[in-house]
Amino acid sequence: MYDIDNILNQTGFTKSDIIELLSVEDKGEIDKIRLRAYEIMKQNCGEEVYLRGLIEFSNYCINDCYYCGIRKSNSNVERYILNKDEIIESAKWCADNGYGSLVLQSGERTDDQFIDFIEDIVRTIKTETRSQKLPEGLGVTLCVGEQTLENYKRLYNAGSHRYLLRIETSSEKLYAELHPDYQSFQKRVECLKLLKLTGFQVGTGVMIGFPNQTLEDLANDILFFKEMDIDMIGMGPYIVHNQTPMSDLSDIYKGRKQEIYQLALKMIAITRIVLKDVNIAATTALQAMYPMGREAGLMYGANIIMPLLTPTGVREQYQLYEGKPCLDEFSSDCFECIQRRIESTGRTIAKDAWGDPKHFFNDHLRSDF
Ligand code: 5AD
Repeated sequence: MYDIDNILNQTGFTKSDIIELLSVEDKGEIDKIRLRAYEIMKQNCGEEVYLRGLIEFSNYCINDCYYCGIRKSNSNVERYILNKDEIIESAKWCADNGYGSLVLQSGERTDDQFIDFIEDIVRTIKTETRSQKLPEGLGVTLCVGEQTLENYKRLYNAGSHRYLLRIETSSEKLYAELHPDYQSFQKRVECLKLLKLTGFQVGTGVMIGFPNQTLEDLANDILFFKEMDIDMIGMGPYIVHNQTPMSDLSDIYKGRKQEIYQLALKMIAITRIVLKDVNIAATTALQAMYPMGREAGLMYGANIIMPLLTPTGVREQYQLYEGKPCLDEFSSDCFECIQRRIESTGRTIAKDAWGDPKHFFNDHLRSDF
């Protein structure tokens, strides 16, 4: 028998400690993990919640991930790209409403026209959202996939300073099961290194509960975040999309919903306990599973929420998984709803703040493993 208290009181964690924590199912013991995670978050990051307005500006994609609804082979999806004015308008709304930061996310493209477009958008956002409250404009995070070092540098020099690129799983074997051959695990890892080298605050993450993934794989994921010196984490449950090659598993998944949801919350808490000073997002996929999923994420040690700013008309075309919430809401509805939801957990929203991950500046903590 492991003693959960003993494990939780340590400062360093082995793989078997992490597996042990992940396998806890007793409600009282889960609560201990949750409370420890919250305490560590409070000590290292504070209790405030930071917002990143999320603009899903295009669903064109050159990749074919077997789990994703906007994979290039899904011919049911109507493809779109927002124009510059639409994106800038959303960015200004974001700044005017005190969000502090914004995420520009899209399907992956690597053509010059695409990079030129994002570069121009980032420059414009940085100049047009400057104010007394935000002297350097909104904090801009990009989530636009695998690119060359040269392109990463261009995007960084344009003024974006954070980048999200999920590893999806740190197991090379599982990665190969989730993606076609031409999408390589090694390349994804290489891109994370290039992003660090460029100077970005780097975010990554995994999906939780997809076929063949074990608790050991998830423990390795957390160790991977540590090893790669990751600053920001976004993780969520895997959710079936019925227009993907993995949809024939949907019946199995219906039966596992509660288990996967719990596992996702435990992953958030344990990642917080092991990594301490990183930013962790309570992701929309949690909410897609259960209406209060994101609030639960905050209780388990997450400190970031990404309210959707994508214009209502195209939200339906950006469904990575089924049950995406807020499809027909307006940004302002999302804002009020988020504010109420966050306050319901006893937390406050940090207004007009970039909310950079402390880890990026805390060099001394990097070698304490
Ligand atoms: N279920 C859960 N998350 C998914 N993503 C893509 N498809 C799904 C799905 N079916 C996540 C991936 C990707 C992020 C943008 O969305 O982790 O990196």
